[in-house]
Amino acid sequence: MSEPPFSLLAAGLQDETEATVEHSLRPRTLDEYLGQREVKASLSVLLEAARRRAEAADHVLLHGPPGLGKTTLATIIARELGVNIRYTSGPAVERAGDLAAILTALDERDVLFIDEVHRLNRAVEEILYPAMEDYALDVMIGKGPSARSLRLNLRPFTIVGATTRAGRISGPLRDRFGATYRLDFYGDDDLTAIVQRSARILGVAVTDEAAKAIASRGRATPRVVNRLLRRVRDHAEVHGDGRVDLAAVEEAMAVLEIDAAGLDATDRRLLLSIFQKFGGGPVGIAALSAILAEEAETVEDVYEPYLLRIGFLDRTPQGRVATERARAHLVALGHDLPPARREPGLWDAAAASDSPAGDA
Ligand SMILES: Nc1ncnc2c1ncn2[C@@H]1O[C@H](COP(=O)(O)OP(=O)(O)O)[C@@H](O)[C@H]1O
Ligand SMILES: [Mg+2]
Repeated sequence: MSEPPFSLLAAGLQDETEATVEHSLRPRTLDEYLGQREVKASLSVLLEAARRRAEAADHVLLHGPPGLGKTTLATIIARELGVNIRYTSGPAVERAGDLAAILTALDERDVLFIDEVHRLNRAVEEILYPAMEDYALDVMIGKGPSARSLRLNLRPFTIVGATTRAGRISGPLRDRFGATYRLDFYGDDDLTAIVQRSARILGVAVTDEAAKAIASRGRATPRVVNRLLRRVRDHAEVHGDGRVDLAAVEEAMAVLEIDAAGLDATDRRLLLSIFQKFGGGPVGIAALSAILAEEAETVEDVYEPYLLRIGFLDRTPQGRVATERARAHLVALGHDLPPARREPGLWDAAAASDSPAGDA
């Protein structure tokens, strides 16, 4: 069997080595956390205030596409507060009792990080409301007519929730977070600085040009640039003297099939299918997830955000549309595309007049 193509985006972590490397590259303080200036400025006030009052910090909700630094920021929050952090995730907490066990085990002012917080089930969420609001657990004792509810007090704590989609969080849960921060894609300068920082930690010699070139193909995402850096380093060690210069970056990218826009083979397959099978769109999310053999949620959370950001994909009320810019990119790479089925601009007007795409 041939190896699957290299995916920049393979949801989550690929293997244990990567998890270890990712850990070693994680900034540990707000100062080391590059970019996201507005988030950092606001968060540092919140943390400083909590420290001065010697109280648990407000609950914090972090949202944004994968790989932008949500888990990292949660770790930093705990560290800056000088408390412990406990990690869990929405799908991991199955029953209300699981959450009660975690909450009662927290020390005063500890941080509980809940990844994918939009995936908590209803029963667990309901335990969380009084816990977040009053540091209290409401437990039912007894059954039938004699059943009554008993309130247990918890030590004050901070929940840091992370999600790729704020829209999926129920209103009551969202309201219980005192602060909400949206992490945005990173600019080239910040990403270049992240490449240079990671290279220092990994002990790789990288020229400025090479760092920029890696950053420009890194989908505006720290996790992706770190992945690329490691692959380029491998290439430079095998085919050269281990030093990463522009030529090494370009050779490695050619081998990995990552183009100048930072798209990998999967992204191109997605866009090509929209042009070749659907006349450029509009096409529903169900069809896109069939093309990629990925769940609709993965397509929306992992693949689409960057393509939308660089204007290769548009959302319209009728579905996704691949743009003229995407067409030009693919044609420049030598792909032969059927002519556009629609007038350019038509869908842009439709999109402007209506809400985001309703999905087929
Ligand atoms: N602001 C940042 N500065 C430097 N490195 C970062 C930053 N944000 C994320 N990273 C790097 O990217 C990797 C992925 O970040 P992570 O916090 O796991 O993302 P998320 O939880 O949002 O998916 C981390 O290992 C870290 O090294
Ligand atoms: Mg994470």
